Amino acid sequence: MGVVRQLRQVDADDSGIDAAFRADVHSGLAQAQKAIPARWFYDTMGSALFEDITALPEYYPTRSETDLLTRHAAAIADHVGKGRAVVELGSGSSAKTPLLLGAIAPSAYVPVDISGEFLRDSAAGLAEKFPGLPIYPVEADFTQRVTLPREIAAGPKLGFFPGSTIGNMVARTAVDLLRDWRDSLGEGALLLIGIDRIKDVDTLIAAYDDPAGVTAAFNRNLLDRINRELAGDIPVDDFSHRAIWNDVHGRIEMHLVAGRAMEFSVDGRRYAMAAGETIHSENSHKYGPRDAGLLLRAGGWTPLAAWDDVDPAFALILAEATAFRSAP
Ligand code: AVI
Repeated sequence: MGVVRQLRQVDADDSGIDAAFRADVHSGLAQAQKAIPARWFYDTMGSALFEDITALPEYYPTRSETDLLTRHAAAIADHVGKGRAVVELGSGSSAKTPLLLGAIAPSAYVPVDISGEFLRDSAAGLAEKFPGLPIYPVEADFTQRVTLPREIAAGPKLGFFPGSTIGNMVARTAVDLLRDWRDSLGEGALLLIGIDRIKDVDTLIAAYDDPAGVTAAFNRNLLDRINRELAGDIPVDDFSHRAIWNDVHGRIEMHLVAGRAMEFSVDGRRYAMAAGETIHSENSHKYGPRDAGLLLRAGGWTPLAAWDDVDPAFALILAEATAFRSAP
């Protein structure tokens, strides 16, 4: 069957630039604590750098999650059953997807990703591995409302949200997203989600500030992207990468630190930064078992099973979109 067709749901202006990117950069640079949403890391270069990060010895989440998927594929398949359409949120390179698809005999695969080029390549690779499987790629920002292909509307569905990408959202946004996807996938749908656990700070910091400097390059590429796509003249080499653990929020934060006082323009608008001032570029929240359960329930998903026997700690949780009961 192979790749059927690619749906595009991205709001680009005449120059092909995503209008939301432009708006987020300007509003983010105008704030007292400058901040740009982490989803804008993932242009073609950023997606490739993220793939490099996943292969770093210090970046344990990919290894831990792959280990869980490999060892528990049969148990996951027992819970999920056969014949569900798998909808993957933020599919990227779909590196872990074959482990799941190979175990559960799905009816279709719907990768949803904002990076169209990446989506095309990974969908083509999966079509080769699973020749009989219909693949309906959707080029869209999965944090916004996504219209799913009508071909999968009627059948049972499994949302697949690996990599602890939910951790890149603050709790309120994460709950909104879980609720939106609960509505899109419908009652009775299942969700297999990867969630990174809280652990010792040294392990966490090493994962987000690797000695080879790949994460630093990933972080700085955001500035390169602004220069490339929004006619900016940000002096990228004068920014350094910083990763810190914020214990109050239970998250790693990434920042871009201005090494000197500077002025630059983006799209003709002028911005100034003092030496040491930062642009907050990412949050990566980590959750204990109870926190993760609470987050899922708040989003309308009831946890059914969890696999988390791995070191460094990580969890794969299977949850169900159950009917809402307000009574105790
Ligand atoms: C995609 N996301 C789950 C990664 C994370 O761990 O928060 C992004 C990342 N940022 C730096 N390294 C990896």
